[in-house]
Amino acid sequence: MITEEQKELIEKINKLKKEKDAVILVHNYQRPEIYEVADHIGDSLGLSQEASKTKAKIIVFCGVDFMAETAKILNPDKKVLLPTKSAQCPMAAMVTVKELKELKEKYPDAAVISYVNTSAETKAESDICCTSRNFVEITDSLPNKEVIFVPDEHMGNYLQTKTDKKIIIWKGYCYVHTKISAENIKKAKQLHPAAEFIAHPECPMEILEIADKVCSTEGMIKYAKQSKAKEFIIATEEGMLNRLKKEVLGKKFYAAGGVCFNQKSINLENLYEALKKEQFEIKIPEEIRIKAKKAVERMMDVG
Ligand code: 13P
Ligand code: SF4
Repeated sequence: MITEEQKELIEKINKLKKEKDAVILVHNYQRPEIYEVADHIGDSLGLSQEASKTKAKIIVFCGVDFMAETAKILNPDKKVLLPTKSAQCPMAAMVTVKELKELKEKYPDAAVISYVNTSAETKAESDICCTSRNFVEITDSLPNKEVIFVPDEHMGNYLQTKTDKKIIIWKGYCYVHTKISAENIKKAKQLHPAAEFIAHPECPMEILEIADKVCSTEGMIKYAKQSKAKEFIIATEEGMLNRLKKEVLGKKFYAAGGVCFNQKSINLENLYEALKKEQFEIKIPEEIRIKAKKAVERMMDVG
């Protein structure tokens, strides 16, 4: 339910957005009131694609740091803003360039695939990026027999079951998805026996093994629309249910995941302030941006 106070802020943000020639890109996990000011709502890949197409002068990213950085990597001449400094993805911070370089020395023939949930510095050290939508396809598109996959261990383990290449897996994880337990999923399945079970690939392997479908947040919308099932248990950040309920009408969704507090640190107040004061601007050293751009664009070229 949107309150009167929120309605006022939504109006002010929409007005300011037009005056400043800004576009607001919103990740699926954002608060429902943030959806109200969005020009585009989507997953990491979809929003990167929107960022590469936009003609607006300012991009306000309602998501987390690595998403805003990806927008900046693709749009060096635009101002890219993140509404609060708290919107950081802890998993993206789990890779250090020093350790990655050491791993590259240990496996000189391996290509480095960095999940888009990484810093610009990590992307700059990578051959190609991937998202939860295309990680298998990206892996199979490479000529190398060995691949260093950073930073998500669970996605890496799952990837290993889908490709013949040897995957050298980093030990990172998402604190939201890693907490989803098979025990709770089994209970949810007992409570909703007709429901299909959809899981994000950041979930642990024991969850992915029992899923009817493993896909990105955007893939969940597509799957739920096409499926004959009328009910779904959703293993990802709970904000995804707002989007599913909004777009997949006449079906029921049950949340099996918790809250990403980093994503939820964005609210209408700090979004309004960010737009008004044009803060907090994403800055990336040019030599890093150029190298990172190659990895992002190479991913986009694969499809
Ligand atoms: P998606 O690309 O599927 O939206 O995932 C991003 C993310 O941060 C998942 O935790
Ligand atoms: Fe990062 Fe996990 Fe939050 Fe996604 S849900 S932004 S991976 S901490």
